[in-house]
Amino acid sequence: MTLAPTGVLVAEAAARGAAVPAVNVVTLEHAEAIVRGATRAGTGVILQVSENAVLFHGGDPRPLLLACRALAAAASGPVGVHLDHVQDAALIERAFEIAGEVGLGSIMIDAARLDYAANVRETADAARRAHALGLWVEAELGEVGGKDGAHAPGVRTDPGQAAAFVAATGVDALAVAVGSSHAMTEPSASLDTRLIERLAAVVPVPLVLHGSSGVPDAGLASAVRAGIRKVNVGTALNVAGTAALRAALAAEPALVDPRGPLRASRAAMEEVVEHLCRTLASA
Ligand code: G3H
Ligand code: ZN
Repeated sequence: MTLAPTGVLVAEAAARGAAVPAVNVVTLEHAEAIVRGATRAGTGVILQVSENAVLFHGGDPRPLLLACRALAAAASGPVGVHLDHVQDAALIERAFEIAGEVGLGSIMIDAARLDYAANVRETADAARRAHALGLWVEAELGEVGGKDGAHAPGVRTDPGQAAAFVAATGVDALAVAVGSSHAMTEPSASLDTRLIERLAAVVPVPLVLHGSSGVPDAGLASAVRAGIRKVNVGTALNVAGTAALRAALAAEPALVDPRGPLRASRAAMEEVVEHLCRTLASA
């Protein structure tokens, strides 16, 4: 059994000055690709299911999280299970209800859309309840650009406010806005590495980078050296996986069984994950 608590995975990485890859699960094939890619690279990984993915599956996170738990349990390396970007209060309740059953190790309370005081209030309350269940809690301050159409790569987290936010909420990790932007399909983002260093110097919990699909390998390595301890990737898998799916379908227009194209898509996503894991491991 290698289901691992997120907090342990991140703490072990932090002790080595490294970062844990956390990769978005949309379908079962994503989860399989993520575990296989990490296994090939010989590293740990976090399977993360976002609120958007939960909505895609009809609103209940349980089936997909149970699948993640089963894959984690069968993996040869440590695999964590995380619920990502949760804004909906009902989903937070549901997560707390099934956390033990689905092996959930952590949750990201995403109240960054609220003003500072409301973000603190909502995050602190959810963190207190999550901690009572043994969950590790990530939160966000300073919207990471690009989410929900708010494309704002210029957004930055203020170090003083970040330290105050962590003290006021008691969270275990903080997602910071340092130049990345969600849903980028090319690795063209330039991170503010100096800001990551300044944040790491004053924020007493691990820092999380979102929108990492848009960051080139060298940028990821610099970010880890500057203090990033969890690296969230989603879109890069879909870029590769959907391209492979499209090519496989185009090659056989009369095909009925979807398994061939899905196998090609899963293999392409696995390559992306293996490369990510190796990049972070060598940073
Ligand atoms: O929380 C998930 C990530 O921030 C994924 O971002 O899809 O742009 O890689 P990405
Ligand atoms: Zn994100």
